[in-house]
Amino acid sequence: MNYASKLKKLIDSKKAKICIIGLGYVGLPIALEFVKKGFFVYGLDNNKKRIGSLKKGNSYITDISSDRIRKILKSRRFLPTTEESILKQPDIIIICVPTPLRKRKIPNISYIIMAAKTIVRYLQKSQLIILESTTYPGTTRDVILPILKKSGLKESKDFFLSFSPERIDPGNRRYTFSKIPKIVGGISKKAAELTRVLYSKVIDKVIPVSLAETAEAVKLLENTFRIVNIGLINEFAMLCSKLNIDVWEVVEAAKTKPFGFMPFYPGPGIGGHCLPIDPLYLSWKARKVGFRTKMIDLAAKTNLFMPHYVVRRIEGLLNEKGKEVSGTKILILGVTYKKDVKDLRESPALDIIELLQGKGARVSYSDPYILYLDINSIRTKGVKLTQAILKKNDLVILVTDHREFNYKMIANSARLILDTRNAFERVGINAKNIVKL
Ligand SMILES: NC(=O)c1ccc[n+]([C@@H]2O[C@H](COP(=O)([O-])OP(=O)(O)OC[C@H]3O[C@@H](n4cnc5c(N)ncnc54)[C@H](O)[C@@H]3O)[C@@H](O)[C@H]2O)c1
Repeated sequence: MNYASKLKKLIDSKKAKICIIGLGYVGLPIALEFVKKGFFVYGLDNNKKRIGSLKKGNSYITDISSDRIRKILKSRRFLPTTEESILKQPDIIIICVPTPLRKRKIPNISYIIMAAKTIVRYLQKSQLIILESTTYPGTTRDVILPILKKSGLKESKDFFLSFSPERIDPGNRRYTFSKIPKIVGGISKKAAELTRVLYSKVIDKVIPVSLAETAEAVKLLENTFRIVNIGLINEFAMLCSKLNIDVWEVVEAAKTKPFGFMPFYPGPGIGGHCLPIDPLYLSWKARKVGFRTKMIDLAAKTNLFMPHYVVRRIEGLLNEKGKEVSGTKILILGVTYKKDVKDLRESPALDIIELLQGKGARVSYSDPYILYLDINSIRTKGVKLTQAILKKNDLVILVTDHREFNYKMIANSARLILDTRNAFERVGINAKNIVKL
Protein backbone atom coordinates (compact mmCIF):
# COMPACT_ATOMS: atom_id res chain seq x y z
CA MET A 1 0.00 0.00 0.00
CA ASN A 2 1.39 3.47 -0.88
CA TYR A 3 1.68 6.32 1.62
CA ALA A 4 -1.41 8.15 0.35
CA SER A 5 -3.67 5.10 0.71
CA LYS A 6 -2.23 4.37 4.15
CA LEU A 7 -2.83 7.93 5.31
CA LYS A 8 -6.35 7.96 3.91
CA LYS A 9 -7.12 4.81 5.89
CA LEU A 10 -5.75 6.40 9.05
CA ILE A 11 -7.88 9.51 8.50
CA ASP A 12 -11.00 7.49 7.75
CA SER A 13 -10.57 5.50 10.94
CA LYS A 14 -9.70 8.72 12.87
CA LYS A 15 -6.46 7.08 13.93
CA ALA A 16 -4.42 9.77 12.16
CA LYS A 17 -2.63 12.00 14.67
CA ILE A 18 -2.69 15.71 13.96
CA CYS A 19 -0.35 18.51 15.03
CA ILE A 20 -1.45 22.14 14.87
CA ILE A 21 1.43 24.63 14.78
CA GLY A 22 0.30 27.97 16.24
CA LEU A 23 -2.53 27.89 18.78
CA GLY A 24 -4.00 31.35 18.23
CA TYR A 25 -7.42 32.57 17.12
CA VAL A 26 -7.25 30.12 14.22
CA GLY A 27 -5.19 27.16 15.44
CA LEU A 28 -6.82 26.58 18.82
CA PRO A 29 -10.42 26.25 17.52
CA ILE A 30 -9.18 23.86 14.80
CA ALA A 31 -7.33 21.74 17.36
CA LEU A 32 -10.38 21.51 19.60
CA GLU A 33 -12.69 20.64 16.72
CA PHE A 34 -10.51 17.70 15.64
CA VAL A 35 -10.33 16.45 19.25
CA LYS A 36 -14.11 16.75 19.50
CA LYS A 37 -14.47 14.56 16.42
CA GLY A 38 -12.25 11.83 17.92
CA PHE A 39 -8.75 12.63 16.64
CA PHE A 40 -5.60 12.89 18.76
CA VAL A 41 -4.12 16.39 18.47
CA TYR A 42 -0.76 17.86 19.46
CA GLY A 43 -0.80 21.64 19.82
CA LEU A 44 2.64 23.11 19.18
CA ASP A 45 3.24 26.76 20.03
CA ASN A 46 6.47 28.55 20.86
CA ASN A 47 4.64 30.92 23.20
CA LYS A 48 5.33 29.36 26.62
CA LYS A 49 2.70 31.51 28.31
CA ARG A 50 -0.04 30.28 25.97
CA ILE A 51 0.96 26.62 26.36
CA GLY A 52 1.22 27.04 30.15
CA SER A 53 -2.25 28.54 30.21
CA LEU A 54 -3.71 25.69 28.13
CA LYS A 55 -2.05 23.06 30.32
CA LYS A 56 -3.76 24.62 33.32
CA GLY A 57 -7.06 24.50 31.45
CA ASN A 58 -7.31 28.25 30.88
CA SER A 59 -8.42 29.75 27.59
CA TYR A 60 -7.05 33.04 26.21
CA ILE A 61 -9.53 33.28 23.34
CA THR A 62 -13.00 34.77 23.86
CA ASP A 63 -14.91 32.29 21.71
CA ILE A 64 -13.43 29.34 23.65
CA SER A 65 -14.34 28.78 27.29
CA SER A 66 -11.87 27.46 29.84
CA ASP A 67 -14.45 24.76 30.59
CA ARG A 68 -14.08 23.51 27.04
CA ILE A 69 -10.28 23.38 27.38
CA ARG A 70 -10.55 21.44 30.65
CA LYS A 71 -12.97 18.94 29.14
CA ILE A 72 -10.71 18.41 26.16
CA LEU A 73 -7.64 17.95 28.38
CA LYS A 74 -9.54 15.33 30.37
CA SER A 75 -10.17 13.38 27.15
CA ARG A 76 -6.36 12.91 26.96
CA ARG A 77 -6.54 13.48 23.21
CA PHE A 78 -5.09 17.01 23.29
CA LEU A 79 -1.45 17.64 24.13
CA PRO A 80 -0.34 21.30 24.15
CA THR A 81 3.44 21.60 23.99
CA THR A 82 6.40 23.83 23.12
CA GLU A 83 8.54 20.78 22.28
CA GLU A 84 9.12 20.83 18.50
CA SER A 85 10.51 17.27 18.37
CA ILE A 86 6.90 16.01 18.70
CA LEU A 87 6.68 16.85 14.97
CA LYS A 88 7.98 13.33 14.33
CA GLN A 89 4.77 11.87 15.78
CA PRO A 90 1.80 13.24 13.80
CA ASP A 91 0.50 12.02 10.45
CA ILE A 92 -0.81 15.48 9.62
CA ILE A 93 0.67 18.91 10.41
CA ILE A 94 -1.46 22.05 10.07
CA ILE A 95 0.34 25.41 10.07
CA CYS A 96 -1.63 28.31 11.64
CA VAL A 97 1.08 30.88 12.35
CA PRO A 98 0.67 34.65 11.91
CA THR A 99 1.19 36.47 8.60
CA PRO A 100 1.58 40.14 9.52
CA LEU A 101 3.05 43.04 7.56
CA ARG A 102 6.50 44.50 7.88
CA LYS A 103 6.91 48.21 8.73
CA ARG A 104 6.94 49.09 5.03
CA LYS A 105 3.54 47.33 4.63
CA ILE A 106 5.00 44.35 2.77
CA PRO A 107 4.24 40.71 3.66
CA ASN A 108 6.09 39.18 6.56
CA ILE A 109 6.02 35.44 5.98
CA SER A 110 8.91 34.78 8.36
CA TYR A 111 6.63 32.80 10.74
CA ILE A 112 5.62 30.48 7.89
CA ILE A 113 9.26 30.03 6.86
CA MET A 114 10.26 29.33 10.46
CA ALA A 115 7.48 26.74 10.82
CA ALA A 116 8.51 25.02 7.57
CA LYS A 117 12.17 24.96 8.66
CA THR A 118 11.14 23.34 11.94
CA ILE A 119 8.95 20.78 10.14
CA VAL A 120 11.72 19.75 7.73
CA ARG A 121 14.01 18.87 10.63
CA TYR A 122 11.55 16.13 11.61
CA LEU A 123 9.74 15.40 8.33
CA GLN A 124 8.56 11.79 8.10
CA LYS A 125 7.48 9.76 5.11
CA SER A 126 3.69 9.84 4.55
CA GLN A 127 3.11 13.10 6.47
CA LEU A 128 0.54 15.56 5.13
CA ILE A 129 1.42 19.23 5.67
CA ILE A 130 -1.33 21.85 5.34
CA LEU A 131 -0.83 25.61 5.41
CA GLU A 132 -3.82 27.57 6.75
CA SER A 133 -2.21 30.99 7.30
CA THR A 134 -3.45 33.64 4.89
CA THR A 135 -0.75 34.52 2.37
CA TYR A 136 -0.06 35.57 -1.23
CA PRO A 137 -0.52 33.12 -4.11
CA GLY A 138 2.59 31.03 -4.59
CA THR A 139 3.70 30.77 -0.95
CA THR A 140 2.94 27.06 -0.59
CA ARG A 141 4.69 26.06 -3.84
CA ASP A 142 7.51 28.63 -4.02
CA VAL A 143 8.37 29.01 -0.33
CA ILE A 144 7.29 25.96 1.69
CA LEU A 145 7.84 23.22 -0.89
CA PRO A 146 11.54 24.06 -1.51
CA ILE A 147 12.19 24.03 2.25
CA LEU A 148 10.51 20.62 2.69
CA LYS A 149 12.28 19.21 -0.38
CA LYS A 150 15.61 19.78 1.38
CA SER A 151 14.77 16.62 3.36
CA GLY A 152 15.38 14.63 0.16
CA LEU A 153 11.77 13.42 0.27
CA LYS A 154 9.42 13.91 -2.69
CA GLU A 155 6.03 15.63 -2.60
CA SER A 156 3.16 13.38 -3.73
CA LYS A 157 5.32 10.28 -3.26
CA ASP A 158 6.81 10.55 0.24
CA PHE A 159 4.91 13.48 1.75
CA PHE A 160 1.96 15.69 0.78
CA LEU A 161 1.54 19.46 0.82
CA SER A 162 -1.55 21.61 0.44
CA PHE A 163 -3.10 24.97 1.23
CA SER A 164 -6.48 25.45 2.86
CA PRO A 165 -7.39 28.98 3.93
CA GLU A 166 -8.97 29.57 7.30
CA ARG A 167 -12.26 31.45 7.08
CA ILE A 168 -13.14 31.52 10.77
CA ASP A 169 -15.05 34.61 11.90
CA PRO A 170 -14.35 35.30 15.60
CA GLY A 171 -17.48 36.24 17.52
CA ASN A 172 -19.82 34.89 14.82
CA ARG A 173 -22.32 32.65 16.60
CA ARG A 174 -24.21 31.67 13.45
CA TYR A 175 -21.37 30.41 11.26
CA THR A 176 -19.30 28.30 13.58
CA PHE A 177 -16.27 26.22 12.52
CA SER A 178 -18.05 23.19 11.01
CA LYS A 179 -20.61 25.37 9.19
CA ILE A 180 -18.06 27.36 7.17
CA PRO A 181 -17.27 25.56 3.89
CA LYS A 182 -13.56 24.84 3.48
CA ILE A 183 -11.49 25.43 0.34
CA VAL A 184 -8.66 23.01 -0.41
CA GLY A 185 -5.88 23.25 -3.02
CA GLY A 186 -3.00 20.80 -3.19
CA ILE A 187 0.50 20.92 -4.60
CA SER A 188 -0.41 17.50 -5.97
CA LYS A 189 -3.76 15.81 -6.60
CA LYS A 190 -3.01 13.33 -3.84
CA ALA A 191 -2.35 16.13 -1.35
CA ALA A 192 -5.62 17.84 -2.29
CA GLU A 193 -7.59 14.63 -1.94
CA LEU A 194 -6.08 13.74 1.45
CA THR A 195 -6.77 17.26 2.72
CA ARG A 196 -10.35 17.05 1.43
CA VAL A 197 -10.88 13.73 3.20
CA LEU A 198 -9.41 15.12 6.44
CA TYR A 199 -11.53 18.27 6.61
CA SER A 200 -14.66 16.34 5.63
CA LYS A 201 -14.42 14.74 9.08
CA VAL A 202 -14.95 18.08 10.83
CA ILE A 203 -16.57 20.41 8.29
CA ASP A 204 -19.94 19.98 6.56
CA LYS A 205 -18.77 21.07 3.10
CA VAL A 206 -15.28 20.91 1.58
CA ILE A 207 -14.58 22.44 -1.83
CA PRO A 208 -11.46 21.29 -3.70
CA VAL A 209 -9.89 23.67 -6.24
CA SER A 210 -7.35 22.76 -8.86
CA LEU A 211 -4.19 24.36 -7.41
CA ALA A 212 -2.74 25.53 -4.09
CA GLU A 213 -2.39 28.98 -5.72
CA THR A 214 -6.14 29.04 -6.45
CA ALA A 215 -6.94 28.32 -2.80
CA GLU A 216 -4.50 31.05 -1.73
CA ALA A 217 -6.19 33.51 -4.11
CA VAL A 218 -9.70 32.56 -2.92
CA LYS A 219 -8.99 33.82 0.59
CA LEU A 220 -7.50 37.06 -0.72
CA LEU A 221 -10.44 37.65 -3.06
CA GLU A 222 -12.87 37.22 -0.14
CA ASN A 223 -11.08 39.75 2.03
CA THR A 224 -10.41 42.13 -0.85
CA PHE A 225 -14.13 42.04 -1.71
CA ARG A 226 -14.85 43.11 1.86
CA ILE A 227 -12.33 45.94 2.12
CA VAL A 228 -13.34 47.37 -1.26
CA ASN A 229 -17.03 47.32 -0.30
CA ILE A 230 -16.32 48.74 3.16
CA GLY A 231 -14.19 51.44 1.51
CA LEU A 232 -17.07 52.24 -0.82
CA ILE A 233 -19.66 52.51 1.95
CA ASN A 234 -17.28 54.58 4.09
CA GLU A 235 -16.85 57.01 1.21
CA PHE A 236 -20.62 57.00 0.68
CA ALA A 237 -21.16 57.73 4.40
CA MET A 238 -18.86 60.76 4.26
CA LEU A 239 -20.79 62.04 1.23
CA CYS A 240 -24.17 61.40 2.91
CA SER A 241 -23.06 63.40 5.94
CA LYS A 242 -22.32 66.37 3.64
CA LEU A 243 -25.72 65.94 1.99
CA ASN A 244 -27.54 65.57 5.34
CA ILE A 245 -28.74 62.12 4.38
CA ASP A 246 -28.81 59.25 6.90
CA VAL A 247 -26.49 56.65 5.30
CA TRP A 248 -27.81 53.90 7.59
CA GLU A 249 -31.34 54.49 6.37
CA VAL A 250 -30.07 54.39 2.78
CA VAL A 251 -28.43 50.97 3.32
CA GLU A 252 -31.50 49.55 5.10
CA ALA A 253 -33.70 50.61 2.20
CA ALA A 254 -31.23 49.49 -0.50
CA LYS A 255 -30.95 46.03 1.00
CA THR A 256 -34.65 45.39 0.38
CA LYS A 257 -33.63 44.74 -3.24
CA PRO A 258 -33.67 40.94 -3.45
CA PHE A 259 -30.83 40.73 -6.00
CA GLY A 260 -27.72 42.66 -7.04
CA PHE A 261 -27.09 44.34 -3.69
CA MET A 262 -25.32 43.23 -0.55
CA PRO A 263 -25.32 45.50 2.51
CA PHE A 264 -22.05 46.81 3.92
CA TYR A 265 -21.94 49.29 6.77
CA PRO A 266 -19.73 52.28 7.44
CA GLY A 267 -17.66 52.48 10.60
CA PRO A 268 -14.67 54.04 12.35
CA GLY A 269 -12.17 52.01 10.32
CA ILE A 270 -11.19 48.38 9.89
CA GLY A 271 -9.11 46.24 12.20
CA GLY A 272 -8.10 42.69 13.11
CA HIS A 273 -5.51 40.39 11.67
CA CYS A 274 -7.21 39.98 8.29
CA LEU A 275 -8.94 42.90 6.59
CA PRO A 276 -6.30 45.63 6.96
CA ILE A 277 -3.50 43.19 6.08
CA ASP A 278 -4.50 40.46 3.63
CA PRO A 279 -5.29 42.67 0.60
CA LEU A 280 -1.84 44.21 0.97
CA TYR A 281 -0.38 40.71 0.50
CA LEU A 282 -2.20 40.62 -2.81
CA SER A 283 -1.15 44.11 -3.92
CA TRP A 284 2.48 43.25 -3.04
CA LYS A 285 2.31 40.08 -5.17
CA ALA A 286 0.65 42.08 -7.96
CA ARG A 287 3.53 44.59 -7.97
CA LYS A 288 5.96 41.67 -8.29
CA VAL A 289 4.32 40.75 -11.59
CA GLY A 290 4.07 44.36 -12.78
CA PHE A 291 0.39 44.92 -11.97
CA ARG A 292 -1.18 47.72 -9.92
CA THR A 293 -4.23 46.90 -7.78
CA LYS A 294 -5.79 50.36 -7.87
CA MET A 295 -9.09 49.36 -6.22
CA ILE A 296 -7.36 47.72 -3.26
CA ASP A 297 -5.04 50.68 -2.77
CA LEU A 298 -7.90 53.19 -2.87
CA ALA A 299 -10.11 51.17 -0.52
CA ALA A 300 -7.22 50.70 1.92
CA LYS A 301 -6.57 54.45 1.86
CA THR A 302 -10.25 55.30 2.43
CA ASN A 303 -10.54 52.85 5.32
CA LEU A 304 -7.32 54.12 6.89
CA PHE A 305 -8.74 57.64 6.76
CA MET A 306 -11.84 56.74 8.83
CA PRO A 307 -10.31 57.29 12.31
CA HIS A 308 -9.26 60.77 11.07
CA TYR A 309 -12.78 61.33 9.77
CA VAL A 310 -14.23 60.36 13.18
CA VAL A 311 -11.94 62.91 14.83
CA ARG A 312 -13.03 65.57 12.30
CA ARG A 313 -16.66 64.84 13.13
CA ILE A 314 -15.85 65.18 16.83
CA GLU A 315 -14.20 68.55 16.18
CA GLY A 316 -17.28 69.66 14.25
CA LEU A 317 -19.66 68.53 17.02
CA LEU A 318 -17.65 70.30 19.70
CA ASN A 319 -17.29 73.45 17.62
CA GLU A 320 -21.08 73.62 17.28
CA LYS A 321 -21.19 73.77 21.07
CA GLY A 322 -18.50 76.43 21.20
CA LYS A 323 -15.90 73.95 22.49
CA GLU A 324 -12.67 72.55 21.16
CA VAL A 325 -11.03 69.13 21.48
CA SER A 326 -8.21 70.34 23.71
CA GLY A 327 -9.16 69.83 27.34
CA THR A 328 -12.45 68.09 26.50
CA LYS A 329 -13.28 64.92 28.42
CA ILE A 330 -14.01 62.16 25.92
CA LEU A 331 -15.05 58.60 26.77
CA ILE A 332 -14.48 55.89 24.14
CA LEU A 333 -16.86 52.93 24.34
CA GLY A 334 -15.36 49.73 22.93
CA VAL A 335 -11.73 49.56 21.88
CA THR A 336 -11.45 46.07 20.33
CA TYR A 337 -11.50 45.95 16.54
CA LYS A 338 -14.79 44.09 16.49
CA LYS A 339 -17.84 43.61 18.71
CA ASP A 340 -17.85 40.86 21.35
CA VAL A 341 -14.24 39.88 20.64
CA LYS A 342 -11.19 40.31 22.89
CA ASP A 343 -8.79 41.37 20.13
CA LEU A 344 -7.12 44.76 19.81
CA ARG A 345 -5.06 44.09 16.70
CA GLU A 346 -5.13 47.04 14.27
CA SER A 347 -8.19 48.42 16.08
CA PRO A 348 -9.24 51.86 14.77
CA ALA A 349 -10.10 52.81 18.37
CA LEU A 350 -6.37 52.97 19.12
CA ASP A 351 -5.84 55.47 16.28
CA ILE A 352 -8.81 57.55 17.40
CA ILE A 353 -7.51 57.69 20.98
CA GLU A 354 -4.02 58.64 19.80
CA LEU A 355 -5.34 61.35 17.47
CA LEU A 356 -7.55 62.82 20.20
CA GLN A 357 -4.75 62.74 22.77
CA GLY A 358 -2.52 64.46 20.21
CA LYS A 359 -5.08 67.27 20.09
CA GLY A 360 -5.08 67.60 23.86
CA ALA A 361 -8.33 65.75 24.68
CA ARG A 362 -8.64 64.00 28.04
CA VAL A 363 -9.51 60.52 26.80
CA SER A 364 -10.68 57.53 28.83
CA TYR A 365 -12.23 54.28 27.66
CA SER A 366 -14.52 51.49 28.74
CA ASP A 367 -14.49 48.00 27.26
CA PRO A 368 -15.70 44.83 29.01
CA TYR A 369 -12.99 42.83 27.21
CA ILE A 370 -9.95 45.07 27.76
CA LEU A 371 -8.71 45.98 31.25
CA TYR A 372 -5.63 47.94 30.20
CA LEU A 373 -4.46 49.74 27.06
CA ASP A 374 -0.89 50.66 26.22
CA ILE A 375 -0.77 53.71 23.97
CA ASN A 376 2.57 55.39 23.24
CA SER A 377 4.06 53.30 26.07
CA ILE A 378 1.57 54.79 28.54
CA ARG A 379 -0.68 52.32 30.32
CA THR A 380 -4.30 53.37 30.74
CA LYS A 381 -6.81 51.45 32.82
CA GLY A 382 -10.32 51.11 31.42
CA VAL A 383 -13.13 52.69 33.44
CA LYS A 384 -16.25 50.92 34.66
CA LEU A 385 -19.27 52.15 32.76
CA THR A 386 -21.53 53.93 35.23
CA GLN A 387 -24.02 56.78 35.03
CA ALA A 388 -21.60 59.00 36.96
CA ILE A 389 -18.76 58.32 34.49
CA LEU A 390 -21.03 59.01 31.52
CA LYS A 391 -22.22 62.30 33.04
CA LYS A 392 -18.66 63.37 33.81
CA ASN A 393 -17.62 63.29 30.14
CA ASP A 394 -18.37 65.99 27.57
CA LEU A 395 -18.60 63.46 24.76
CA VAL A 396 -19.01 59.70 24.39
CA ILE A 397 -17.91 57.95 21.21
CA LEU A 398 -19.27 54.50 20.53
CA VAL A 399 -16.47 52.84 18.55
CA THR A 400 -17.17 49.14 19.12
CA ASP A 401 -20.76 48.05 19.70
CA HIS A 402 -20.35 45.24 22.23
CA ARG A 403 -23.53 43.42 23.19
CA GLU A 404 -22.73 43.92 26.88
CA PHE A 405 -23.14 47.71 26.81
CA ASN A 406 -26.30 49.02 28.42
CA TYR A 407 -27.38 51.28 25.55
CA LYS A 408 -30.41 52.67 27.40
CA MET A 409 -28.29 53.75 30.35
CA ILE A 410 -25.67 55.28 28.03
CA ALA A 411 -28.29 57.24 26.04
CA ASN A 412 -29.98 58.45 29.25
CA SER A 413 -26.78 59.53 31.00
CA ALA A 414 -24.33 60.80 28.36
CA ARG A 415 -24.39 64.47 27.40
CA LEU A 416 -23.48 63.92 23.75
CA ILE A 417 -22.83 60.67 21.83
CA LEU A 418 -21.18 60.02 18.49
CA ASP A 419 -22.38 56.60 17.37
CA THR A 420 -20.02 55.22 14.72
CA ARG A 421 -21.98 51.92 14.39
CA ASN A 422 -25.65 52.92 14.43
CA ALA A 423 -25.87 50.74 17.54
CA PHE A 424 -28.44 52.84 19.40
CA GLU A 425 -30.98 52.91 16.58
CA ARG A 426 -30.57 49.18 16.09
CA VAL A 427 -31.86 48.64 19.63
CA GLY A 428 -34.68 51.13 19.09
CA ILE A 429 -33.07 54.15 20.81
CA ASN A 430 -33.40 57.54 19.14
CA ALA A 431 -32.46 60.57 21.19
CA LYS A 432 -31.40 64.15 20.56
CA ASN A 433 -28.02 63.62 22.23
CA ILE A 434 -27.04 60.88 19.71
CA VAL A 435 -25.29 61.81 16.47
CA LYS A 436 -24.63 59.08 13.91
CA LEU A 437 -21.52 58.71 11.74
N1 LIG B 1 -7.83 35.75 13.50
C1 LIG B 1 -8.68 35.56 12.51
O1 LIG B 1 -9.84 35.93 12.59
C2 LIG B 1 -8.24 34.85 11.23
C3 LIG B 1 -9.23 34.40 10.34
C4 LIG B 1 -8.85 33.73 9.19
C5 LIG B 1 -7.50 33.57 8.91
N2 LIG B 1 -6.54 34.05 9.78
C6 LIG B 1 -5.13 33.80 9.45
O2 LIG B 1 -4.66 32.72 10.25
C7 LIG B 1 -3.29 32.91 10.60
C8 LIG B 1 -3.12 32.85 12.10
O3 LIG B 1 -3.82 33.92 12.67
P1 LIG B 1 -4.18 33.99 14.22
O4 LIG B 1 -5.15 35.09 14.36
O5 LIG B 1 -4.56 32.64 14.73
O6 LIG B 1 -2.76 34.40 14.85
P2 LIG B 1 -2.34 34.41 16.40
O7 LIG B 1 -1.26 35.41 16.52
O8 LIG B 1 -3.56 34.51 17.25
O9 LIG B 1 -1.74 32.96 16.65
C9 LIG B 1 -0.60 32.47 16.05
C10 LIG B 1 0.14 31.58 17.03
O10 LIG B 1 1.25 31.01 16.33
C11 LIG B 1 2.33 30.91 17.26
N3 LIG B 1 3.57 30.74 16.50
C12 LIG B 1 4.17 31.62 15.67
N4 LIG B 1 5.26 31.06 15.09
C13 LIG B 1 5.35 29.80 15.56
C14 LIG B 1 6.26 28.74 15.35
N5 LIG B 1 7.28 28.84 14.50
N6 LIG B 1 6.07 27.58 16.01
C15 LIG B 1 5.04 27.45 16.88
N7 LIG B 1 4.13 28.42 17.11
C16 LIG B 1 4.28 29.59 16.47
C17 LIG B 1 2.23 32.17 18.09
O11 LIG B 1 2.89 32.04 19.32
C18 LIG B 1 0.71 32.31 18.25
O12 LIG B 1 0.24 31.70 19.43
C19 LIG B 1 -2.89 34.23 9.96
O13 LIG B 1 -2.33 33.98 8.71
C20 LIG B 1 -4.21 34.95 9.79
O14 LIG B 1 -4.17 35.89 8.72
C21 LIG B 1 -6.89 34.67 10.93
